[in-house]
Amino acid sequence: MKILAIETSCDETAAAIVTRERGASQADLHAKFGGVYPEVASREHVLHILPVIAESLDLPIRQTDQLPSAAFRELDYLAVTQGPGLIGSLLVGVQTVASLGLSTGLPILPVNHLAGHIYASFIRNEASDVAPEFPLLALVVSGGHTMLIRMTGHHEYELLGQTRDDAAGEAFDKVAKLLDLGYPGGPKISALAKQGDRHAYSFPIGLEHEHTFDFSFSGLKTAVLRQVQQLGNSLSLDQKADIAASFEQAVVSALVQKTIQALDAFPVRHMILGGGVAANAYLRERLGSVLAYRVPAVKLHVPPLSLCTDNAAVIGAAAAFGSLAPIVPAKLQAKARWPLVTFNM
Ligand code: KG4
Ligand code: ZN
Repeated sequence: MKILAIETSCDETAAAIVTRERGASQADLHAKFGGVYPEVASREHVLHILPVIAESLDLPIRQTDQLPSAAFRELDYLAVTQGPGLIGSLLVGVQTVASLGLSTGLPILPVNHLAGHIYASFIRNEASDVAPEFPLLALVVSGGHTMLIRMTGHHEYELLGQTRDDAAGEAFDKVAKLLDLGYPGGPKISALAKQGDRHAYSFPIGLEHEHTFDFSFSGLKTAVLRQVQQLGNSLSLDQKADIAASFEQAVVSALVQKTIQALDAFPVRHMILGGGVAANAYLRERLGSVLAYRVPAVKLHVPPLSLCTDNAAVIGAAAAFGSLAPIVPAKLQAKARWPLVTFNM
């Protein structure tokens, strides 16, 4: 099975060819990524979408004014992120795929962006020796979402908890802005935190003492703001590093604590970490070591860095597994909001 997958939910224009044979995933990633486009993202997607698709199909760029139909004859499906995300960005991918569907007759699989982040862990690579098995728990941490999900089968999702305010990635981005570190904040904070003292400041861990699998990061963000104000206008690099490290400590503690509580309440053998924040080295390391210590029987699946932040290969992976129902081009619809979860615990 060979799928051309398109992802344009935010600021990455991405296309990938994903193949799957006999139950195992074999991602053949001719993925081409656009850069980071903060605003007017949809215009940038319009500029990039056809060249990116052409490159994913191994076609020379100069042929993009006419995509040869032979390139599509080898495909079995088209897949596209239908939501959630920025509506203007989603529309570009969705309309492009609707047109390709109409002109080629290929069936279209609509994919939820968050499913893509989870299915990143189903893509086989040198580092992933064992495939995830159900039932499993997934911690999805991105710029727009922070969720603990239980999966009982392919595309069967139960929501255990989610953020009540900011997403974890959003908190990274906002604190980076406060510290004048630039965008996207996650990698900048993470790099600076390595030089800082994680215990220099004790920032609050959201909902720490509440019986819930929900998260909250807005109190933490406010605590960082107050600390920055208290320290005065021009912070030294050392002070920034201490704040970054202490902030990262609080975010990661919240994520790890709630994950452990969820694993206690819903015992499973497999756990998936996904989303842009899953690229965070400290989170990967802490979650790995706490799980190994507290629940050694649980196998943690963490995608390689390139599959954590937005890309099309993971959209293709989500389309490749289970049996998503194809829809006709006219039914395809960009959805700024599109709940992944079919059932709330
Ligand atoms: O999944 P993603 O690429 O886009 C969304 O679906 O939102 O996630 C982007 C988020 C941003 O907030 C970014 O700051 C965060 O992921 N991020 C990180 C790291 N790399 C990206 N956060 C912490 N540490 C990182 N290394
Ligand atoms: Zn994402």
